[in-house]
Amino acid sequence: MSSSDSRNGKDREATTLSRRSIFKMGLATGIAVPMSALGQAPNRLRPQPGDQLVFEEGANQDELVRPELLELEQRPLSALARDPETQVLRDGSRLNRVMITRIDPQKLTARYQANAAEGVIAYSAVCTHTGCDVINWDAGQLRMACPCHESQFDIYDGANVVGGPAPRPLAMLPLEVVDGVVIVAAGFRGRVGFTQQF
Ligand code: FES
Repeated sequence: MSSSDSRNGKDREATTLSRRSIFKMGLATGIAVPMSALGQAPNRLRPQPGDQLVFEEGANQDELVRPELLELEQRPLSALARDPETQVLRDGSRLNRVMITRIDPQKLTARYQANAAEGVIAYSAVCTHTGCDVINWDAGQLRMACPCHESQFDIYDGANVVGGPAPRPLAMLPLEVVDGVVIVAAGFRGRVGFTQQF
């Protein structure tokens, strides 16, 4: 099994199971849910404000993301957040992965401009349809594309859906640049992952 297979849906992480829903399940079934089981390991936490970003692929793999390492409107590259103090990489959940690229900030829809840092933007890698990683790229139309059912997302418009069955945009991760390094400015804007339909 290739790594992309495991990234594209094999990981059956229950995206809709929040801490609250787990707790409610415990109440409904009468099964005690130990509070310790609800604790999040640092590597499973979503990207936190102040986290650095590290390339997961490409010529600068494992390096910190800096604006000058990204070419304008290049195919988005996957990256993960890293706690700058503990050096813990937040690789414990595929919901933490983001796709980053650099754009012309003047062309970004106004309400998303505060989420960009020197033109660098980051969107969740997880498709809102059924959770595949959005790893394809339409360089002509500047759209991220999902390989599973061909949903397309406009990088200049908050990853709004412009094709395919995805029901909502990809979540956007607000960024800033401090001392030349791209860091996380705030938690994801929008819901990460997908909602299973039963
Ligand atoms: S999982 Fe992305 S389009 Fe279906």
